[in-house]
Amino acid sequence: MSKPPKNAAWGGRFALGPSEIMQKINVSLDIDKRLYAQDIAASLAHAAMLARRKIISPEDGEAIARGLVQIKNEIETGLFPFRAEHEDIHLNIEARLAEIAGPAAGRLHTARSRNDQVATDFRLWVRDAVDRLDARTRDLQAALLDRAERHAATIMPGFTHMQPAQPVTFGHHLMAYVEMLGRDRGRFKDCRARANESPLGAAALAGTSFPIDRDATARDLGFDRPAANSMDAVSDRDFALEFLAAAAIAGLHLSRFAEEIVLWSAPNFGFVALSDAFTTGSSIMPQKRNPDAAELVRAKTGRLNGDLVVLLTVMKGLALTYAKDLQEDKAPVFDAADTLELCLAATAGMVLDLRVDEAAMRAAAAAGFSTATDLADWLVRVLDLPFREAHHRAGALVKRAETLGCDLAGLPLAEMQKVEPRVTADVFAVLSVEKSVASRASFGGTAPAEVRKAIAAARKRFL
Ligand code: ARG
Repeated sequence: MSKPPKNAAWGGRFALGPSEIMQKINVSLDIDKRLYAQDIAASLAHAAMLARRKIISPEDGEAIARGLVQIKNEIETGLFPFRAEHEDIHLNIEARLAEIAGPAAGRLHTARSRNDQVATDFRLWVRDAVDRLDARTRDLQAALLDRAERHAATIMPGFTHMQPAQPVTFGHHLMAYVEMLGRDRGRFKDCRARANESPLGAAALAGTSFPIDRDATARDLGFDRPAANSMDAVSDRDFALEFLAAAAIAGLHLSRFAEEIVLWSAPNFGFVALSDAFTTGSSIMPQKRNPDAAELVRAKTGRLNGDLVVLLTVMKGLALTYAKDLQEDKAPVFDAADTLELCLAATAGMVLDLRVDEAAMRAAAAAGFSTATDLADWLVRVLDLPFREAHHRAGALVKRAETLGCDLAGLPLAEMQKVEPRVTADVFAVLSVEKSVASRASFGGTAPAEVRKAIAAARKRFL
């Protein structure tokens, strides 16, 4: 097998081409070809600026622009000749441009380096990914809001320690996720705002001797401003780290919801059922309907965490400015964006697909003495007991009910009066799950009226 040829872009001082193994470890084309649109956009902005500043001739500027547009077309129609010996997407495009535009192509790289080029492309890509993920997250919020609206008064058990704690409504539970997703969107938005500075024109690391206009290229590419320090501009990957951190947290939220879907759809709970669209069967146990989509969403958070740790580790201890280590920055970001987008879509699909068994939810909500807090609150409100004291009495009543094998609402008044003589029959009014839920009308509480207000407010905040 013949050795790879000398590199056309940087091989000037080299006598020989790289070894095959060098070529193999060096090439990043299969990953970074996803930057093609951003690379071409940034090159168009750069070339136009070079021509405006008379750093290159208008004719060369036009030849470059025409060639870049043709290349974009070739890539999008599958006609572009990708060549691994050109390392990455930047050099592939440049090599093809030379074939199309001749010597003019060689002028495109004036006052720029692949270091500021890749940093620019990557920021543009992350910006687009943030916008895509924001739209998908919003879709999921919309699906949850619709579901929450229908179930604003559907009673289910609320859990702490995975034990029935107090009754809540299913709508209220779903709205908790709308809040989490709102924070996820906020994190991505913050990331986007800080990412939105242009490295272009930082060149290799020190800036350039050509009279470029960094404000113009920044503006052209939709950046808020040029990055202020050329060394920071080529070596900073905070925007990618922030993206990965935001993705990991968002994935974690989805994994919590996925776990709840797994639990709720298990026969022992029976709160919800997923259709054939989001479940699989077992090849051996014919009765099974497994919530695989939810399980995979639950698991993929591991992958998202891994992606974050990859880049944190690549960046740690890296001296300024560019080192080839930085080429390892893209794979985790692309993977995280793809993974999160898929998880968001799968979760939205499940939210729309869920069939809710209201009777099963209500029955579970009534079990486990879930209105014991309501009983304690009644003792405070009506008999003016200190809460700690009331808690103690209510606990004694739970014990009594347990011994008699009934729930709190089924405990005879005489039994209650053995524990607290001043209890009256009025107490039964607070012991039903409906009353319990309706009474939690504090701001952000689970009372159906409050949940409906929260839904209306969330539609304004998020949709
Ligand atoms: N493929 C490279 C990367 O992703 C492009 C930058 C190369 N710069 C360099 N000085 N070799 O980082």
